[in-house]
Amino acid sequence: MTKNKLAFFVDLKPAVEDFSAAVAHGLSQSPKELPCRFFYDEAGSTLFEKICETEEYYVTRTEKALLSQIAPNIAAIAGPGCSVVEFGTGSSAKIRILLSALDAPAAYIPIDISREHLIATANGVAVDYPDVAVGAVCGDFVGMSALPKEAAIGSGPKLGFFPGSTIGNFEPDAAREFLGRARGVLAPGDGFVVGVDLKKDIERLNAAYNDATGYTAAFNKNVLARIRDELGAAIDIDHYEHVAFYSEEKSRVEMHLRSLTAQEIALGDRVFHLAKDEMIHTENSCKYSADDFKALSEAAGFEHVEVWTDVRNYFSIHYLRAPG
Ligand code: AVI
Repeated sequence: MTKNKLAFFVDLKPAVEDFSAAVAHGLSQSPKELPCRFFYDEAGSTLFEKICETEEYYVTRTEKALLSQIAPNIAAIAGPGCSVVEFGTGSSAKIRILLSALDAPAAYIPIDISREHLIATANGVAVDYPDVAVGAVCGDFVGMSALPKEAAIGSGPKLGFFPGSTIGNFEPDAAREFLGRARGVLAPGDGFVVGVDLKKDIERLNAAYNDATGYTAAFNKNVLARIRDELGAAIDIDHYEHVAFYSEEKSRVEMHLRSLTAQEIALGDRVFHLAKDEMIHTENSCKYSADDFKALSEAAGFEHVEVWTDVRNYFSIHYLRAPG
């Protein structure tokens, strides 16, 4: 793990969440729930990469192709010399597409809670883009409302970047609140590029979250494996079934784990009972129309500058501007 290629590294020392307490809280709810952020340990992140390569999960490849196509348009709006602030460090392929298209980008500053992944991504970009000053902020971008002062490198405007439709994993109110806070990370007049998955036919959506190879099922069940391995709960993962479906009423794909038998999860001295067929809600992936997301971004106080969609109208990339 080297940091020497970076212009700066700020460790905000994000609090390590108490996994056991969060699981106990989720299993005490009715219906039971487990937050989707717990999918992403090393095994879960590897499974997510596999999902992105499946035939059915159109999201990643559609966004990448669209981004490659419209990156010159983003560059034209953003102007020269901007400092790109990425919310999370997902696929470094996407930031490379953007940096390669921008006019003399001054800096790249990713923010991520996962220290090692953050440093590896930032160093990789620093090596490949020697003219770009690369810094990194280890912190929780979801709750962040200002950048640390060390991140004030480059004299041009900032350009926020939040691809992958990760915003879809927030419910709409939480998405609006996140966007509102993100305005504080940016300055008045700065741009914000956000990737958002679109509403589409139900069969396509259901297939994307039920791939035939079973990677999404394994990804969903990985949270149970973590509870078993990290918290010592005696869980037989085969006694649960992956369930994912699009709810038209809520405009979201929901993922659940169905208990195939009446069974229990014991966590320390607490025992959680599951009836046969009871579901644990593990993820929402909200889908928007381009207009829905425009309205959401405006409700969060952004000016909506532009939206691009692919020819099939599967995915959208929005250019927002912080007012002022
Ligand atoms: C990371 N996020 C945008 C993915 C999604 O589509 O909601 C996570 C995922 N869940 C199942 N497949 C992919």
